[in-house]
Amino acid sequence: MSVLVTGGAGYIGSHCCVTFLEAGHDVVVLDNLSNSSAESLTRVAELTGRSVHFEQCDIRDRAHVETILRKHSCESVVHFAGLKAVGESVEDPLRYYENNVGGTVQLLSAMQACNVKTIIFSSSATVYGEPQSLPLREDHPTAPLNPYGESKLMVEQILKDLKTSDPEWRIAILRYFNPTGAHASGLIGEDPRGVPNNLMPFISQVASGRREVLSIFGDDYPTEDGTGVRDYIHVVDLVEGHLKAHEALIKPSEQLQANTSECLTVNLGTGTGYSVQEMVRAFERASNRAVATQIAPRRAGDSAEVYASTQKASDVLDWTAGRGLQDMCHDTWNWVCKNPKGYDDSAE
Ligand code: NAD
Ligand code: UD1
Repeated sequence: MSVLVTGGAGYIGSHCCVTFLEAGHDVVVLDNLSNSSAESLTRVAELTGRSVHFEQCDIRDRAHVETILRKHSCESVVHFAGLKAVGESVEDPLRYYENNVGGTVQLLSAMQACNVKTIIFSSSATVYGEPQSLPLREDHPTAPLNPYGESKLMVEQILKDLKTSDPEWRIAILRYFNPTGAHASGLIGEDPRGVPNNLMPFISQVASGRREVLSIFGDDYPTEDGTGVRDYIHVVDLVEGHLKAHEALIKPSEQLQANTSECLTVNLGTGTGYSVQEMVRAFERASNRAVATQIAPRRAGDSAEVYASTQKASDVLDWTAGRGLQDMCHDTWNWVCKNPKGYDDSAE
């Protein structure tokens, strides 16, 4: 009886492995290593004293996925595998639809064939598009602004249709806000390839001297200091939300049982927004380093302000994020200092 974690060698997936192993689950990781290194799983074993069964596999290879589900008697799936770079998705949409949507269809077909009907899906706050009202509640209209976001929304729809066709499916759709931070040990963390797209990895690389200056994308937004505001959430809080969702699917409360005809769709955020300037200052405090910045034009597709309503996560999952901004910055810095070249350090 195991949990299959697709994309489990990646940033969020590797942290999820730690949390699930510590909670007593057996974990099988399925990953094609297209954006990760198996070294993360060696670190997971080091951290937990328990090993992860690793299967190098692509979710688009349905027959292989079926073999893995049967071999390890998997009972549920936490599905992180996917491509996540917004700009890349605009340049090469077919690759994104094939991997994220096509791949998920193959995974779900394999699960159906093996009678494995419990899944947690990594969705994103990006499905909401430009906020019409804040905080963003789960019933806010959806209107993604790019193929990456569309691919997430398409998978959400596929999952809803599957649930309608067969109520035995137990499905959680978790919409992440801005995951950041690292495990407090500094053994696992975010290891972006090339120039980071996201704010926190970029700030940390400026602080460590790997990059010269952070471009702040716009200082003329209608926010307190003019820079963009986001809801940053510590990655360990985020994966603890997955554990809660897993418990809710396996042993649904009366409230959830009364509502078994629907997928469980929940935001995972903190409910608090911080501006780019606030993030820079918090990181400077945590690292005791200066972070050079320059003002640049707004980035296409960016909103002024995005933060979650956390009411549903609290009501339905009994989960709230406990770690604050200083933990996020401190743990990111600890990871960067211990692994200046990411996982490559130990690969050589
Ligand atoms: P990541 O790139 O570190 O992890 C994704 C993993 O999936 C990688 O290990 C990659 O090798 C693997 N993978 C990709 N395509 C695959 C395929 N076809 N078959 C097998 N493995 C495959 O990314 P992450 O930040 O850990 O994100 C995990 C999930 O959460 C993704 O689905 C992402 O879209 C979603 N998400 C991430 C964020 C974020 O800011 N990090 C925000 C919202 C949602
Ligand atoms: C971006 C994606 C979103 C995705 C999310 C998590 C876009 C338009 N949106 O969201 O779809 O779900 O990442 O992967 O790409 N910033 C800078 N300088 C930088 C980087 C970022 O000023 O070098 C600013 C941004 O303008 C924004 C904030 O920092 O105000 C956070 O940016 P980022 O980390 O990329 O997250 P999102 O914009 O929320």
